[in-house]
Amino acid sequence: MKNVLITGGAGFIGSQLVSSFLAETDWKVCVLDDFNNSYSPVLKYHNLAPFTKDPRLSLFGGDISSEAVVEGLFEHRKFHCIIHLADKRYPEDARNGRTFEAINIQGTLNLLNAARKSNVESFIFGSSAEVYGTKNTSPLSETLPIEENESPFALTKSIGESLCHSYTQLHKMRCVCLRFFNVYGPRQDPHTLLFGLARAIENGTPISLRCDSDSQFDYVFVSDIVDGIKASIDYDRTSFEIFNLGSGSCVSIRLIIEHLESIMKRPAKFTKALFPAEKRTTLFAQIEKARTMLGFEPKVSIEDGIRSFVDWFQTDRMWEKYQDFPDDPREKATVSGSSK
Ligand SMILES: NC(=O)c1ccc[n+]([C@@H]2O[C@H](COP(=O)([O-])OP(=O)(O)OC[C@H]3O[C@@H](n4cnc5c(N)ncnc54)[C@H](O)[C@@H]3O)[C@@H](O)[C@H]2O)c1
Repeated sequence: MKNVLITGGAGFIGSQLVSSFLAETDWKVCVLDDFNNSYSPVLKYHNLAPFTKDPRLSLFGGDISSEAVVEGLFEHRKFHCIIHLADKRYPEDARNGRTFEAINIQGTLNLLNAARKSNVESFIFGSSAEVYGTKNTSPLSETLPIEENESPFALTKSIGESLCHSYTQLHKMRCVCLRFFNVYGPRQDPHTLLFGLARAIENGTPISLRCDSDSQFDYVFVSDIVDGIKASIDYDRTSFEIFNLGSGSCVSIRLIIEHLESIMKRPAKFTKALFPAEKRTTLFAQIEKARTMLGFEPKVSIEDGIRSFVDWFQTDRMWEKYQDFPDDPREKATVSGSSK
């Protein structure tokens, strides 16, 4: 029986991956997560609650930036594969790169070292489309240059990719870096735009968009990302590869709001009309490489994906009890009149 380690396995993508491994394979799954308060740790425990009785799941609370924690975990365990999703994404202070360094760089190094020492067959690194920065134009392809990243998060993700590359050159290791675009679906971080829009529409509170509603982004449903991650585990034609995982198309914020209104059967209210702003963004992935080399094929349409998110949002109300929405720099849209 194979054994997979998922760092950040209590989070949104990680917990969906845990669920998929337990349902569709006979693999053992080990989760390492520090249950930090990027959003409520209760929600992270809740994500894994349906699986905790499964004897194939082991759950470890610990910080990847601690070498002792990572080495301790590897002491008596042999992993076939590591899927590294734990990271620091949102800063206490956007200009302070130091908060990212320990987790995104030192944490990744700790895992790469442990993987090397115990001959792990494949290392999957959860990277981000943010490494493309703001200057490249869509469709964003893996061949584009990665340079001048203003965000410490994107910079540390890009360094993480370089570390993976260097480990494959220096040691006999296989690494795949996956650049995720906007992943959405049940259990997603309550601070995200889609979540904020759904809350506002449900509560009838006005939405104030900080971005142009005609800006378009690549939204990819979480089950498609889970399929892409699983497909990359067996990829062995080269020792190192980077793949975009997105839907390969883009959807405007305006259309997302219209889908939410129609599925939730409630109108959205706005603090001001949705006029186009000066700066319109269009971002989406070129996914031909993942298509041909991994057999990756996004299956969930934006409408079906939003419906699935709304089903979960309306039935699993745990997020409501543990929501804490301070003035958060992450939100691209704010909702006036908090629902708290
Ligand atoms: N969700 C998206 O749209 C998106 C887009 C691009 C990239 N990604 C990447 O995918 C990965 C997973 O994202 P997600 O949306 O599931 O995020 P998430 O915040 O829901 O999950 C991340 C998990 O990592 C854990 N974690 C954070 N720091 C840790 C540490 N030091 N030690 C151990 N565990 C730690 C958190 O507690 C959390 O449970 C991340 O690497 C993220 O950058 C996600």
